[in-house]
Amino acid sequence: NLPSSVRIVEVGPRDGLQNEKQVVPTDIKVELIERLAEAGLATIEATSFVSPKWVPQMGDSTEVLLRVLAQPAPGVSYPVLTPNLKGFEAALAAGAQEVAVFAAASESFSRKNINCSIAESLERFRPVTAAAREAGVKVRGYISCVAGCPYEGEVAPRKVAGVAATLRDMGCYEISLGDTIGTGNPLSIRRMLEAVMQEVPAAQLAGHYHDTYGMAAANVFASLDMGVAVFDASVGGLGGCPYAAGASGNVATEDLVWLLHGMGIATGIDLDRLVDTAAWISAQLGREPASRVARAVLAK
Ligand code: HMG
Ligand code: MG
Repeated sequence: NLPSSVRIVEVGPRDGLQNEKQVVPTDIKVELIERLAEAGLATIEATSFVSPKWVPQMGDSTEVLLRVLAQPAPGVSYPVLTPNLKGFEAALAAGAQEVAVFAAASESFSRKNINCSIAESLERFRPVTAAAREAGVKVRGYISCVAGCPYEGEVAPRKVAGVAATLRDMGCYEISLGDTIGTGNPLSIRRMLEAVMQEVPAAQLAGHYHDTYGMAAANVFASLDMGVAVFDASVGGLGGCPYAAGASGNVATEDLVWLLHGMGIATGIDLDRLVDTAAWISAQLGREPASRVARAVLAK
C-alpha cells in the first residue's frame, strides 16, 4: 500500500542554511534555489522571516525572496517561515504566496526556539493564519520534537496530536511533523503517527525527519507504510539545529530520492542534477556532501 508518487519539500535553503555556522552570501542562496528548481524540486522553502538577532543566517530573507520571485521557475512554490505577524507582513510584502508557522510538542523547546510557551505560540499564529486567509496565502504548520526533545527526552504522541489538531483547526493545509533531533525510530514514529491520525488524516501530514542517528530513511519508510506521501528533505543533508546540540541536518534529498525511486515511487526529481547541486553547495561550504548517495553517485 505504498503511494505511487511522493511530494518532496526541499528545505535546504532554510532548515539547512539557517544552521550553517558561516553566513552564506545571498547570491549563493538564490543560485541554490534556482539549481534545485532545475533538478525538479517543485516546493522549495526559500528562507525564514524570523528575528535576525535569533538567526542571523536568515537576515537577508526579504532580498532572497524578492530575487527568487522576480524569476520564479514555472510550477514551483517557494514557502517561507513566519513565526508571528511581523514576519508574515514582511513575507507578504516580498510577495510570499505560501508561509509556514512553527510550533513544538515540547514546552522547553518552544521556549528556546521561539521564546514562548506552546499555548502562547498557537495564539500568536492565529492572527497569522487569519491574515494569510485574507491575503489568499497558503499556510503550512510545523511541529518540532514529535519523537524526542533535547531538554525533556521522550515526547508523548498525544501532545503531538493535540498541537496538530489546533494547527489544522487554524487553517494549516498540511502539518509537517519534525523529528528535530532524529531520535525517532520506525516504531516510535508509527506510534506518533497513529496518535496524530486520530485527529488529522494522512493526506494532510508530512514527515520532517532529521538524520542525526541515521534513522531518517527508516522513518520515512515507516511513514510511507502508514499513508504519508509528503516528506521534507535538505539537499546534501545540509543543516542541524541551533537549539538542539549535536543535531544534524534533515534527511538528504538525494538519499530520499534514491529510496523512493528504488521502490518505484515517482518524485519528478532528476537524481544526477540533484547530486550535482549537493556537491556544488557543499563545495561552497568548503566540504564534501554529507550524504551517502551523493558520495556513491559522485564516485561512479
Ligand atoms: P522575541 O525576542 O521573544 O520577540 O523573539 P519580540 O516580539 O519580543 O521582539 C524582539 C525583537 O525582534 C524586536 O526587535 C522585534 O521587532 C524583532 P527590537 O525591538 O529588539 O529591535 N522581531 C522580528 N524581526 C524580524 N522578523 C520577525 C520578528 N519578530 C520580532 N518576524 C521570535 C520571538 C519568534 C521573533 C524569535 O524567537 C525568533 O525569531 N525565533 C526564530 C527561531 C528560528 O528561526 N528557529 C529555527 C526555525 S524552526 C525549525 O528549524 C524547526 C523545523 O525545521 C522543524 C523541526 O525540525 O523540528 C521547522
Ligand atoms: Mg527541521
